Amino acid sequence: MVDFSTGRINPLARRTDCLVLGVYERRRFTPAAQQVDEATGGALGQLISDGDLAPATGSTVLLHRPRGTSARRVLLVRLGARSGLDDRGFVQAVRAGVRAVAATGSRAVADFLGEAEVPGRLETWRLRRIAETYGDSVYRFDECKSGQDRPPRGRLRRVAISAAVDRAAARRALSEAAAIVAGKRLARDLANRPGNVCTPSHLAENAAALAGEHEAVSVEVLDEEQMRDLGMGALLAVARGSREPPKLIVVEYAGASEADAPIVLVGKGVTFDSGGISIKPGAAMDEMKFDMCGAASVLGAIRAVAGLGLPLNVIGLVPAVENLPDGNACKPGDIVTSMSGQTIEILNTDAEGRLILCDAMTYAERYDPDTVIDVATLTGACVVALGHVVSGLFTNSSELGRALFEAGANSGDPCWELPVWAEYEEPLKSNFADVANVGGRAAGAVTAAAFLARFARERRWAHLDIAGTAWQSGKDKGATGRPVPLLVQYLLDRAGR
Ligand code: BES
Ligand code: MN
Ligand code: ZN
Repeated sequence: MVDFSTGRINPLARRTDCLVLGVYERRRFTPAAQQVDEATGGALGQLISDGDLAPATGSTVLLHRPRGTSARRVLLVRLGARSGLDDRGFVQAVRAGVRAVAATGSRAVADFLGEAEVPGRLETWRLRRIAETYGDSVYRFDECKSGQDRPPRGRLRRVAISAAVDRAAARRALSEAAAIVAGKRLARDLANRPGNVCTPSHLAENAAALAGEHEAVSVEVLDEEQMRDLGMGALLAVARGSREPPKLIVVEYAGASEADAPIVLVGKGVTFDSGGISIKPGAAMDEMKFDMCGAASVLGAIRAVAGLGLPLNVIGLVPAVENLPDGNACKPGDIVTSMSGQTIEILNTDAEGRLILCDAMTYAERYDPDTVIDVATLTGACVVALGHVVSGLFTNSSELGRALFEAGANSGDPCWELPVWAEYEEPLKSNFADVANVGGRAAGAVTAAAFLARFARERRWAHLDIAGTAWQSGKDKGATGRPVPLLVQYLLDRAGR
């Protein structure tokens, strides 16, 4: 974890391991870089004219023991053309700076990249992005490595970010960043844990721990019997094949008066998805331990909101199960009755997410919520449609759609809307039950959302399909912590911050 501070910083007087300074095209310095260039007798300009700093945005060069300063190092970062700097370029430069700093072994850093103006963005936005990037950069998941070959941890401890805005605004931006980083860290830790550790009970224990950390958070965990009494036949059908008992985790954050209708966040918590009897192919099946990333992001968002003390009521609902094949597992063709009373023909046991979400959404009705947002690694089809860049957004409210889209864009955790029109319910018709749980290959992400829409009824509702964004595969395999920033930004906006 890193400590953040902010305020006006004198780049020449500051004792630090590294000053991080920006330069636009050619030798167009940001103000702090200009000061350091002058104090060093033009050393920065010299590096550039010697060709040590490539022109591309995010290129960096390191200078040791710069004369005229109290810093051990200066890192100069390319911002690209001043006139063309946008969100993307800014974030790219910030990331590059953070990565280069990490490679130096600096403990304390003073970062001046917030001086770079980005059209349409306040300085507090720049500050928050810089802090989040440093905060995320120190994340490691090494709790399952034996001490012997555990990779060394980074040394970074203190980050000072130069800001001209008033102290209160700057402090608030930093506390938002710290809360988002902490929320993402919880989400990533839970998701990165293997399926034999992160079970439904493990999620329940972690939710309880969250309640222990914050006065305003309370947790209740419903067991199988209680869910049977509620008539959650869809959720329980998925759990049948596993020896791990299912849980419905209810996390309540009370930040506003009881009369304020809550915002309910529902997170898919399939702690391992083998597909069940409709078993998945073996390749990359290990990644189905990430099928609880929706749940993890809901818990992470609540941690952030509680840390910030936002004046809202937020309820997290996490239906948590494991989806395995077994003699007792549900089978294709089985018909179950959901808590809503609708009967469902399970044509494919691998379409289990919607089966647990629908019962959790019906459970949400008891709160008469203002808004319901479910978050789920729901469909491979969403990855085909949108890749790993944006989360899929589906909603029955154009107003909520706009709010979530904006929150995504502003927090750097974007989502993109796909339609959930009545036409997409057509393929879910069943000859035997009220609805089938799959609708064929076409528009698979949309028909999944159309299934959920039947359980949202008239309630203001949105669904985020995070199958492509919640984790990365390959060399850097691991949870990303998305969509914690998007959810927290939406809640900040709702709180009028
Ligand atoms: N958890 C998966 C979705 C998934 C697959 C997310 C791959 C990320 C990567 C979900 O439970 C599932 O299996 N969905 C099926 C639905 C199909 C049977 C209609 C899918 O996407 O193939
Ligand atoms: Mn599945
Ligand atoms: Zn799944």
